Amino acid sequence: MIRSKIAGIGYYVPERVVKNEELTQLMDTTDEWIQERTGIQERHYGRKHEETTTTMAAVATRIACERAGISPEDIDFIIFATLSPDYYFPGCGVLVQRELGIAHKEVGALDVRNQCSGFVYALSIADQFVRTGTYKNILVIGSEMHSMGLDFSTRGRNVTVIFGDGAGAAIVQPSSDPARGILSTKLHADGTFAEKLSFINPGCHGGYHAKKQGEEADFGYPPVNTYGEIFFTPKMMQEGQYYPNMEGQFVFKMAVQKFPEVIHEALEAAGLQASDIDMLIPHQANLRISQFVQKRLGLRDDQVWNNIQRLGNTTAASVPIALCEAWEAGKIKDGDLVCLAAFGSGFTWASALMRW
Ligand code: COA
Repeated sequence: MIRSKIAGIGYYVPERVVKNEELTQLMDTTDEWIQERTGIQERHYGRKHEETTTTMAAVATRIACERAGISPEDIDFIIFATLSPDYYFPGCGVLVQRELGIAHKEVGALDVRNQCSGFVYALSIADQFVRTGTYKNILVIGSEMHSMGLDFSTRGRNVTVIFGDGAGAAIVQPSSDPARGILSTKLHADGTFAEKLSFINPGCHGGYHAKKQGEEADFGYPPVNTYGEIFFTPKMMQEGQYYPNMEGQFVFKMAVQKFPEVIHEALEAAGLQASDIDMLIPHQANLRISQFVQKRLGLRDDQVWNNIQRLGNTTAASVPIALCEAWEAGKIKDGDLVCLAAFGSGFTWASALMRW
């Protein structure tokens, strides 16, 4: 049986570091609050109008290609996970293809909208394509430019302090060693609580879901102008109803339940147990969530990679960035059992287990 493996990985975070202190100038928050509740000390923000989700992804991709010993021209399929795309449509898959100068190759490009678990979902798709012999050099990306879409007033403080910008990319290839590579992936979703962590405007919902759930949310529908107000109503614009929304405590409780569940599921599928894990790469949602998961699995500090303190939560980019950092630091060696796990908006959650 062909297995797939990550043959090369790279990441990029923008130069500009934004410390908690800087956010205190914009909203009613404190360094102590942010650090105590999330572990975050600083995050990076891209250069507005110069860097985008796509350009950051392209930088990470070139590094991943070099490490995989291929050129971007060799990429035969693209899977791009993000919740902060450059355009509403088309997706970033085609944009990064163009940015890399390989549009003439006409390789397929797929966009994944699974928020924090997006990269693990994307990796799982790549795994299926490689195992069936369909593609040999799949580019898998997680990239986010959050800083362009956050509410920097006190109203948005519970969300804004958490998120940062960055990109990670991996080249997924067939593994020549059948014992090495991706051993199992597990994907889950539960749409019951879709709005608990969401960014619902712009959209075509017209207030439908809120009404169906018996909520009194007023988005200003029907719009004044029946045509041309599909995404934003004047009321949405006036009231700033175009920012992410999060019920933090609810998300926290779901996350600490689903992370261990989906990790155990991947381990079971591979006939392994938690004590076999050499390195756990959890999605960087909140340091307290990662610490909880670490404890539940009985792992030591050096078996879990945390970078949320320096980078914040970079959503789809968080897993590939953390994986790349851990590998660059020499903490992941050939033959190690590496577990990726993520949970986020949807809710969606996923895990991937691989023998490096
Ligand atoms: N600075 C200061 N105070 C803040 C604040 C901020 N940035 N954000 C919220 N607060 C206030 C709230 O208004 C609230 O005030 P009140 O008690 O007067 O009403 C108080 O702090 C407590 O808010 P709460 O939301 O209950 O805090 P919390 O302990 O749950 O921490 C999160 C908030 C968001 C850090 C936490 O719930 C969390 O991390 N949840 C998971 C989020 C996550 O992982 N998201 C990504 C999923 S992939």
